[in-house]
This record gives sequence, C-alpha cells and structure tokens, in this order.
Amino acid sequence: MSADQGKRMAAEAAMEYVEENTVIGVGTGSTVNLFIDALADMKARIDGTISSSEASTARLRKHGIPVLDLNEVGTLPLYVDGADESTRFLQLIKGGGGALTREKIVAAASERFICVADESKLVDVLGGFPLPVEVIPMARSYVARELVKLGGRPELRSGFTTDNGNIILDVHGLKIMEPIKLEQQINNIPGVVTNGLFALRPADLLLLGSADGVRKLT
Ligand code: 5RP
Repeated sequence: MSADQGKRMAAEAAMEYVEENTVIGVGTGSTVNLFIDALADMKARIDGTISSSEASTARLRKHGIPVLDLNEVGTLPLYVDGADESTRFLQLIKGGGGALTREKIVAAASERFICVADESKLVDVLGGFPLPVEVIPMARSYVARELVKLGGRPELRSGFTTDNGNIILDVHGLKIMEPIKLEQQINNIPGVVTNGLFALRPADLLLLGSADGVRKLT
C-alpha cells in the first residue's frame, strides 16, 4: 500500500470526529489537503474553519468552506493535522511544510487534536526527520550556534519564507530522547518563534492509515 493511500484513509477516518455546527481547526500538508477535500462534502453543516496556513486557507476557500479568525472564535472542539513523525505517545515533529507556528497556536486553542498520517510516520525516537525551527531572520546565526550546542546540525531551508515572514532552520542529527525538555530548551533561545516539537501539547488521537486499515492510537 502506498503512503498516499494511507494518508487518504487516515484523512477520511477523521471525518467521523467532525461534529455539525462547530468550527474545525485545520492543519497543513498533503494529508490535511485530503481532509479538506472530504470536509467540503459537509461544508453546509459546519460553522466554519480556523486555518493554520495560507495554503490551507486557499484550499478551504476554493471549496467554499468558510475560514474564520481565531480571535473571533473561542476554544475549538477539534483540530485535525498531519505530522512528519509521531511516537506511540503521540509526541510529534511537525513543520515539514513550514506552518509550525500557526499549527501550534491552533492545536493549543483546541480541546482535541487528531493527528492523521500514514503508518510510515510512526517512529520509536523522534529526530530522524530534521526538526524545523522558525526563527526571526536577524537571529539566524545566533540561533544556529545555540542549536549546535544542543547537538544538532541546523541547515537553512533555502528559498523559503514562512507565512509570518520568518526563516526555517531544519535541525539534522538529533536523537530526541526527552522531547518535552528539548521543546522547552529550543523555545528559550531568543529569536526562536516556534520549534516543530509537539510534546508539551501532543496529539490526543493518532489515526494511522495502514494496509490493515486505520490504526487508532491514544
Ligand atoms: C506542515 C506539517 C505537516 O503536517 C507535516 O509536514 C506532514 O505533512 P504531510 O501530510 O504532507 O506528510 O507539519 O507544517
């Protein structure tokens, strides 16, 4: 079974958790794109969405799905997003698409975070996927040096600017044994906007598309 099939299965399985007359938090990426396409079928029965990126906003609007302002909406009942890696404890690396900051905001503002992915994303230890860190441009070199002290090899994501006007450093070579601690350490470096570890606020449910069907991990 291909990764794309797994992504589709997981994205469609998430529809079971979408309740009518609610506002849905929507992540970013190829798996979420499939969720957005499925959500279009019930767009008349939801109150709207909160989007985590300009790319998802464009796709939602193309389907005629309303995109609202998080500041105008209270706590969201549900956030659906993908991941680059997940442990069995639902701690994640995200930000492969560069949308990590807004994703972390919407996840934080949501009661329930459902992560949708194909089974290849499940790992024993986070860090095989380079950890994305969004950085204020003037702090690039300083933050890179601090990330080296933490044991990583930061690389500037070339030709990429985030939706917030910042750069991304992708940190290679990390074997993340203590995800909460590392998330906090990186957050504490001046100039860092967000890092792609979702450990302080992990997912609540992981839907993994696999050849055996959709596996549910809590
Ligand atoms: C974007 C993300 C995505 O959720 C992550 O990169 C997974 O993407 P895909 O569903 O395309 O595999 O964090 O910033």
